[in-house]
Amino acid sequence: MDNLDQIVSEAQSAFAAISDPDALEQVKARFLGKSGQITELLKGLGKLPPEEKKAAGAAINVAKTAVEAALNERREAIRKAALEARLAEEALDVTLPGRAEARGGLHPVTRTLERIEALFRSIGFEVADGPEIEEDFFNFTAMNTPEDHPARSMHDTFYLQNPDGTVADKVLLRTHTSPIQARYMKAHVERYTARVLPDGRGQLEKMPEIRIIAPGRVYRVDSDATHSPMFNQVEGLWVGEGVSFADLKGVIADFLKSFFETDDLVVRFRPSFFPFTEPSAEIDVAFMSGALKGRWLEIAGCGMVHPDVLRIAGIDPEKYTGFAFGFGQDRLTMLRYGVNDLRLFFEGDLRFLRQFA
Ligand code: PHE
Repeated sequence: MDNLDQIVSEAQSAFAAISDPDALEQVKARFLGKSGQITELLKGLGKLPPEEKKAAGAAINVAKTAVEAALNERREAIRKAALEARLAEEALDVTLPGRAEARGGLHPVTRTLERIEALFRSIGFEVADGPEIEEDFFNFTAMNTPEDHPARSMHDTFYLQNPDGTVADKVLLRTHTSPIQARYMKAHVERYTARVLPDGRGQLEKMPEIRIIAPGRVYRVDSDATHSPMFNQVEGLWVGEGVSFADLKGVIADFLKSFFETDDLVVRFRPSFFPFTEPSAEIDVAFMSGALKGRWLEIAGCGMVHPDVLRIAGIDPEKYTGFAFGFGQDRLTMLRYGVNDLRLFFEGDLRFLRQFA
Protein backbone atom coordinates (compact mmCIF):
# COMPACT_ATOMS: atom_id res chain seq x y z
CA MET A 1 0.00 0.00 0.00
CA ASP A 2 2.73 2.47 -0.91
CA ASN A 3 0.11 4.45 -2.65
CA LEU A 4 -1.63 5.18 0.65
CA ASP A 5 1.54 6.41 2.37
CA GLN A 6 2.13 8.62 -0.58
CA ILE A 7 -1.37 10.07 -0.39
CA VAL A 8 -0.91 10.78 3.33
CA SER A 9 2.41 12.52 2.88
CA GLU A 10 1.10 14.43 -0.11
CA ALA A 11 -1.83 15.63 2.00
CA GLN A 12 0.47 16.58 4.87
CA SER A 13 2.68 18.71 2.70
CA ALA A 14 -0.28 20.22 0.81
CA PHE A 15 -1.88 21.26 4.13
CA ALA A 16 1.38 22.55 5.50
CA ALA A 17 1.81 24.89 2.54
CA ILE A 18 -1.46 26.64 3.24
CA SER A 19 -2.15 29.39 5.73
CA ASP A 20 -5.56 30.57 4.60
CA PRO A 21 -8.52 28.73 6.20
CA ASP A 22 -10.72 28.78 3.06
CA ALA A 23 -7.93 27.49 0.85
CA LEU A 24 -7.34 24.70 3.36
CA GLU A 25 -10.95 23.50 3.06
CA GLN A 26 -10.58 23.43 -0.70
CA VAL A 27 -7.42 21.35 -0.57
CA LYS A 28 -9.15 19.02 1.88
CA ALA A 29 -11.64 18.18 -0.92
CA ARG A 30 -8.80 16.80 -3.01
CA PHE A 31 -8.36 14.01 -0.46
CA LEU A 32 -11.57 13.66 1.49
CA GLY A 33 -14.18 15.27 -0.77
CA LYS A 34 -16.84 13.40 -2.79
CA SER A 35 -14.33 12.44 -5.45
CA GLY A 36 -11.22 12.91 -3.34
CA GLN A 37 -8.41 10.39 -3.51
CA ILE A 38 -9.26 8.61 -0.26
CA THR A 39 -12.97 8.57 -1.08
CA GLU A 40 -12.26 7.06 -4.48
CA LEU A 41 -10.17 4.30 -2.87
CA LEU A 42 -13.00 3.48 -0.51
CA LYS A 43 -15.44 3.34 -3.42
CA GLY A 44 -13.07 0.89 -5.17
CA LEU A 45 -13.19 -1.59 -2.29
CA GLY A 46 -16.33 -3.16 -3.69
CA LYS A 47 -14.41 -4.41 -6.69
CA LEU A 48 -11.82 -6.30 -4.64
CA PRO A 49 -12.13 -10.01 -3.95
CA PRO A 50 -13.74 -10.62 -0.55
CA GLU A 51 -10.54 -11.96 1.09
CA GLU A 52 -8.67 -8.71 0.34
CA LYS A 53 -11.46 -6.34 1.28
CA LYS A 54 -10.94 -6.37 5.02
CA ALA A 55 -7.21 -5.59 5.00
CA ALA A 56 -7.55 -3.02 2.26
CA GLY A 57 -10.45 -1.30 4.05
CA ALA A 58 -8.50 -1.16 7.29
CA ALA A 59 -5.45 0.29 5.58
CA ILE A 60 -7.48 2.97 3.80
CA ASN A 61 -9.12 3.94 7.07
CA VAL A 62 -5.75 4.31 8.75
CA ALA A 63 -4.71 6.63 5.92
CA LYS A 64 -7.98 8.53 6.13
CA THR A 65 -7.50 9.05 9.86
CA ALA A 66 -3.98 10.29 9.26
CA VAL A 67 -5.15 12.77 6.61
CA GLU A 68 -7.92 14.00 8.91
CA ALA A 69 -5.46 14.39 11.77
CA ALA A 70 -3.12 16.41 9.54
CA LEU A 71 -6.06 18.55 8.45
CA ASN A 72 -7.20 19.25 12.02
CA GLU A 73 -3.71 20.01 13.13
CA ARG A 74 -3.33 22.52 10.32
CA ARG A 75 -6.72 24.09 11.04
CA GLU A 76 -5.73 24.57 14.65
CA ALA A 77 -2.34 26.02 13.71
CA ILE A 78 -3.95 28.52 11.33
CA ARG A 79 -6.49 29.56 13.98
CA LYS A 80 -3.75 30.09 16.56
CA ALA A 81 -1.62 32.09 14.16
CA ALA A 82 -4.59 34.31 13.34
CA LEU A 83 -5.30 34.88 17.00
CA GLU A 84 -1.69 35.72 17.74
CA ALA A 85 -1.53 38.12 14.83
CA ARG A 86 -4.62 39.85 16.10
CA LEU A 87 -3.32 40.07 19.65
CA ALA A 88 -0.08 41.56 18.41
CA GLU A 89 -1.94 44.04 16.29
CA GLU A 90 -4.26 45.14 19.07
CA ALA A 91 -1.64 45.13 21.79
CA LEU A 92 -2.27 47.66 24.56
CA ASP A 93 0.37 49.46 26.51
CA VAL A 94 -1.17 49.16 29.91
CA THR A 95 1.54 51.37 31.36
CA LEU A 96 0.34 54.46 29.45
CA PRO A 97 -1.39 57.01 31.67
CA GLY A 98 -5.19 56.95 31.36
CA ARG A 99 -7.26 59.69 29.82
CA ALA A 100 -8.22 61.77 32.82
CA GLU A 101 -11.78 62.98 33.06
CA ALA A 102 -12.00 66.74 33.02
CA ARG A 103 -13.09 67.73 36.51
CA GLY A 104 -14.98 70.91 37.10
CA GLY A 105 -14.40 73.17 40.05
CA LEU A 106 -16.50 75.56 42.01
CA HIS A 107 -16.61 79.18 40.90
CA PRO A 108 -14.81 81.45 43.38
CA VAL A 109 -18.03 83.34 44.10
CA THR A 110 -19.74 80.02 44.84
CA ARG A 111 -16.89 79.09 47.16
CA THR A 112 -17.41 82.34 49.01
CA LEU A 113 -21.11 81.66 49.27
CA GLU A 114 -20.52 78.18 50.69
CA ARG A 115 -18.22 79.69 53.26
CA ILE A 116 -20.71 82.40 54.21
CA GLU A 117 -23.51 79.84 54.51
CA ALA A 118 -21.43 77.53 56.69
CA LEU A 119 -20.38 80.35 59.01
CA PHE A 120 -23.91 81.70 59.44
CA ARG A 121 -25.42 78.24 59.83
CA SER A 122 -23.02 77.69 62.70
CA ILE A 123 -24.70 80.56 64.59
CA GLY A 124 -28.23 79.41 63.86
CA PHE A 125 -29.08 81.12 60.57
CA GLU A 126 -31.17 79.47 57.89
CA VAL A 127 -30.67 80.04 54.17
CA ALA A 128 -33.64 81.60 52.33
CA ASP A 129 -34.18 82.74 48.77
CA GLY A 130 -36.51 84.65 46.51
CA PRO A 131 -37.19 85.33 42.82
CA GLU A 132 -34.84 87.33 40.58
CA ILE A 133 -37.80 88.76 38.68
CA GLU A 134 -39.35 90.57 41.59
CA GLU A 135 -42.48 92.52 42.21
CA ASP A 136 -42.13 96.24 42.64
CA PHE A 137 -43.97 95.77 45.92
CA PHE A 138 -41.33 93.54 47.57
CA ASN A 139 -38.31 95.22 45.99
CA PHE A 140 -39.34 98.76 46.93
CA THR A 141 -42.70 99.33 48.61
CA ALA A 142 -42.37 96.70 51.34
CA MET A 143 -38.83 97.97 51.88
CA ASN A 144 -40.17 101.41 52.66
CA THR A 145 -38.75 102.95 49.49
CA PRO A 146 -40.93 105.87 48.36
CA GLU A 147 -42.31 106.29 44.85
CA ASP A 148 -39.90 109.11 44.05
CA HIS A 149 -36.73 107.41 45.32
CA PRO A 150 -33.92 107.54 42.70
CA ALA A 151 -33.33 103.77 42.97
CA ARG A 152 -36.71 103.30 41.33
CA SER A 153 -35.73 105.28 38.23
CA MET A 154 -35.15 103.73 34.82
CA HIS A 155 -31.47 104.73 35.05
CA ASP A 156 -30.92 102.45 37.98
CA THR A 157 -33.30 99.57 37.56
CA PHE A 158 -34.02 97.05 34.81
CA TYR A 159 -37.74 96.95 34.22
CA LEU A 160 -39.29 94.28 32.03
CA GLN A 161 -41.15 94.68 28.79
CA ASN A 162 -44.55 93.37 27.87
CA PRO A 163 -44.72 91.48 24.57
CA ASP A 164 -46.07 94.69 22.97
CA GLY A 165 -42.95 96.63 24.02
CA THR A 166 -44.48 98.65 26.83
CA VAL A 167 -42.86 98.60 30.26
CA ALA A 168 -44.39 95.90 32.42
CA ASP A 169 -46.06 97.34 35.43
CA LYS A 170 -44.84 96.15 38.80
CA VAL A 171 -42.14 93.67 37.80
CA LEU A 172 -38.41 94.23 37.59
CA LEU A 173 -35.06 92.51 38.01
CA ARG A 174 -34.50 92.83 41.74
CA THR A 175 -31.97 95.53 42.58
CA HIS A 176 -30.97 93.94 45.88
CA THR A 177 -31.65 90.83 47.98
CA SER A 178 -33.57 92.89 50.54
CA PRO A 179 -37.02 91.93 49.11
CA ILE A 180 -36.29 88.45 50.49
CA GLN A 181 -36.50 90.05 53.95
CA ALA A 182 -40.04 91.21 53.21
CA ARG A 183 -41.07 87.89 51.65
CA TYR A 184 -39.59 85.84 54.45
CA MET A 185 -41.07 87.95 57.26
CA LYS A 186 -44.52 87.83 55.67
CA ALA A 187 -44.39 84.05 55.24
CA HIS A 188 -43.00 83.64 58.75
CA VAL A 189 -45.85 85.63 60.29
CA GLU A 190 -48.39 83.66 58.24
CA ARG A 191 -46.85 80.38 59.34
CA TYR A 192 -46.81 81.26 62.98
CA THR A 193 -50.27 82.81 63.17
CA ALA A 194 -51.74 79.89 61.21
CA ARG A 195 -51.19 77.78 64.31
CA VAL A 196 -53.67 79.81 66.30
CA LEU A 197 -57.17 78.33 66.53
CA PRO A 198 -60.28 80.61 66.76
CA ASP A 199 -60.47 79.99 70.51
CA GLY A 200 -56.92 81.24 70.93
CA ARG A 201 -55.39 77.80 71.40
CA GLY A 202 -52.02 77.40 69.83
CA GLN A 203 -51.13 81.02 70.39
CA LEU A 204 -47.42 81.38 71.04
CA GLU A 205 -46.29 83.89 73.61
CA LYS A 206 -43.56 85.09 71.35
CA MET A 207 -43.02 85.02 67.67
CA PRO A 208 -40.20 82.55 66.92
CA GLU A 209 -37.03 84.40 65.98
CA ILE A 210 -36.15 85.05 62.38
CA ARG A 211 -32.53 84.39 61.56
CA ILE A 212 -31.76 84.08 57.88
CA ILE A 213 -29.24 84.83 55.23
CA ALA A 214 -30.41 85.10 51.64
CA PRO A 215 -27.89 84.99 48.81
CA GLY A 216 -28.66 85.76 45.21
CA ARG A 217 -28.07 87.60 41.95
CA VAL A 218 -29.14 91.22 41.73
CA TYR A 219 -29.27 93.69 38.83
CA ARG A 220 -28.50 97.36 38.36
CA VAL A 221 -27.74 99.63 35.44
CA ASP A 222 -24.04 99.91 36.22
CA SER A 223 -20.86 98.66 34.53
CA ASP A 224 -17.13 99.22 35.16
CA ALA A 225 -14.16 97.42 36.80
CA THR A 226 -15.89 97.30 40.18
CA HIS A 227 -19.56 97.27 39.05
CA SER A 228 -21.33 94.72 36.92
CA PRO A 229 -24.98 94.97 35.79
CA MET A 230 -25.43 91.60 37.50
CA PHE A 231 -23.76 90.88 40.80
CA ASN A 232 -24.26 88.81 43.92
CA GLN A 233 -25.38 89.86 47.36
CA VAL A 234 -26.02 88.09 50.62
CA GLU A 235 -28.78 89.49 52.73
CA GLY A 236 -28.92 88.87 56.46
CA LEU A 237 -31.83 89.33 58.83
CA TRP A 238 -32.25 88.71 62.53
CA VAL A 239 -35.57 89.69 64.10
CA GLY A 240 -36.61 88.89 67.67
CA GLU A 241 -37.12 90.37 71.06
CA GLY A 242 -34.40 92.75 72.16
CA VAL A 243 -32.19 92.37 69.11
CA SER A 244 -29.89 95.40 69.12
CA PHE A 245 -27.25 97.23 67.15
CA ALA A 246 -24.68 95.72 69.53
CA ASP A 247 -25.74 92.27 68.31
CA LEU A 248 -25.31 93.43 64.74
CA LYS A 249 -21.78 94.65 65.45
CA GLY A 250 -20.84 91.43 67.21
CA VAL A 251 -22.22 89.17 64.49
CA ILE A 252 -20.53 91.13 61.70
CA ALA A 253 -17.14 91.42 63.40
CA ASP A 254 -17.11 87.70 64.22
CA PHE A 255 -18.21 86.79 60.74
CA LEU A 256 -15.49 88.88 59.08
CA LYS A 257 -12.76 87.46 61.26
CA SER A 258 -13.86 83.92 60.50
CA PHE A 259 -14.40 84.62 56.82
CA PHE A 260 -10.97 86.17 56.30
CA GLU A 261 -9.33 83.80 58.82
CA THR A 262 -7.62 86.60 60.70
CA ASP A 263 -8.10 88.63 63.85
CA ASP A 264 -5.88 91.25 62.33
CA LEU A 265 -8.66 93.42 60.98
CA VAL A 266 -10.83 96.28 62.17
CA VAL A 267 -14.47 96.91 61.34
CA ARG A 268 -16.05 100.34 61.09
CA PHE A 269 -19.76 101.21 61.00
CA ARG A 270 -20.08 104.44 59.05
CA PRO A 271 -23.43 106.26 59.33
CA SER A 272 -25.44 106.00 56.15
CA PHE A 273 -28.97 105.88 54.86
CA PHE A 274 -31.29 103.17 53.59
CA PRO A 275 -35.06 103.63 53.55
CA PHE A 276 -35.54 100.20 55.14
CA THR A 277 -33.19 100.56 58.12
CA GLU A 278 -32.93 103.12 60.90
CA PRO A 279 -30.25 103.80 61.94
CA SER A 280 -28.29 102.70 58.88
CA ALA A 281 -24.59 102.18 58.32
CA GLU A 282 -22.02 101.11 55.77
CA ILE A 283 -19.66 98.43 56.98
CA ASP A 284 -16.00 99.04 56.20
CA VAL A 285 -13.17 96.69 56.96
CA ALA A 286 -9.43 97.37 57.13
CA PHE A 287 -6.71 94.75 57.36
CA MET A 288 -3.80 95.49 59.67
CA SER A 289 -1.38 93.45 57.59
CA GLY A 290 -0.99 92.07 54.08
CA ALA A 291 -1.27 93.73 50.68
CA LEU A 292 -4.39 95.73 51.57
CA LYS A 293 -3.02 96.94 54.90
CA GLY A 294 -4.56 100.11 56.27
CA ARG A 295 -7.16 100.80 53.56
CA TRP A 296 -10.84 101.05 54.46
CA LEU A 297 -12.85 98.82 52.17
CA GLU A 298 -16.61 99.07 51.93
CA ILE A 299 -18.24 95.65 52.00
CA ALA A 300 -21.83 95.92 53.18
CA GLY A 301 -24.81 98.05 54.08
CA CYS A 302 -26.67 97.40 57.29
CA GLY A 303 -28.89 98.79 59.99
CA MET A 304 -31.76 98.20 62.37
CA VAL A 305 -34.86 97.11 60.47
CA HIS A 306 -37.11 100.16 60.04
CA PRO A 307 -40.30 99.91 62.14
CA ASP A 308 -42.40 100.44 59.01
CA VAL A 309 -40.77 97.46 57.32
CA LEU A 310 -41.68 95.29 60.29
CA ARG A 311 -45.19 96.70 60.34
CA ILE A 312 -45.75 96.06 56.62
CA ALA A 313 -44.72 92.43 57.22
CA GLY A 314 -47.20 92.15 60.11
CA ILE A 315 -44.65 92.26 62.93
CA ASP A 316 -45.23 94.59 65.89
CA PRO A 317 -42.23 96.96 66.04
CA GLU A 318 -43.04 97.79 69.67
CA LYS A 319 -42.39 94.19 70.60
CA TYR A 320 -39.73 93.06 68.18
CA THR A 321 -36.61 94.59 66.73
CA GLY A 322 -34.13 93.36 64.23
CA PHE A 323 -31.09 94.09 62.19
CA ALA A 324 -30.37 93.51 58.54
CA PHE A 325 -27.30 93.63 56.35
CA GLY A 326 -26.46 93.16 52.71
CA PHE A 327 -22.99 91.99 51.73
CA GLY A 328 -21.49 92.22 48.30
CA GLN A 329 -20.60 88.59 47.77
CA ASP A 330 -18.36 89.42 44.83
CA ARG A 331 -16.59 92.11 46.79
CA LEU A 332 -15.84 89.64 49.59
CA THR A 333 -14.52 87.19 47.00
CA MET A 334 -12.27 89.84 45.43
CA LEU A 335 -10.78 90.68 48.83
CA ARG A 336 -10.32 87.09 49.88
CA TYR A 337 -8.52 86.06 46.68
CA GLY A 338 -6.88 89.38 45.78
CA VAL A 339 -8.77 89.84 42.51
CA ASN A 340 -8.86 93.43 41.27
CA ASP A 341 -11.42 93.32 38.46
CA LEU A 342 -14.95 92.19 39.20
CA ARG A 343 -15.62 91.39 35.53
CA LEU A 344 -13.18 88.46 35.69
CA PHE A 345 -15.77 86.57 37.71
CA PHE A 346 -18.39 86.76 34.98
CA GLU A 347 -16.40 86.40 31.76
CA GLY A 348 -16.01 82.63 32.10
CA ASP A 349 -12.30 82.65 31.13
CA LEU A 350 -11.03 79.20 32.15
CA ARG A 351 -7.46 80.46 32.61
CA PHE A 352 -8.78 82.63 35.41
CA LEU A 353 -11.30 80.18 36.84
CA ARG A 354 -8.91 77.18 36.91
CA GLN A 355 -6.81 78.92 39.54
CA PHE A 356 -9.59 78.33 42.04
CA ALA A 357 -10.46 74.72 41.14
N1 PHE B 1 -29.99 96.46 50.13
C1 PHE B 1 -28.92 97.37 50.41
C2 PHE B 1 -28.14 97.59 49.11
O1 PHE B 1 -28.30 96.86 48.18
C3 PHE B 1 -27.99 96.80 51.44
C4 PHE B 1 -28.64 96.69 52.77
C5 PHE B 1 -29.20 95.49 53.16
C6 PHE B 1 -28.64 97.75 53.67
C7 PHE B 1 -29.81 95.35 54.39
C8 PHE B 1 -29.22 97.62 54.90
C9 PHE B 1 -29.80 96.43 55.24
O2 PHE B 1 -27.35 98.51 49.01
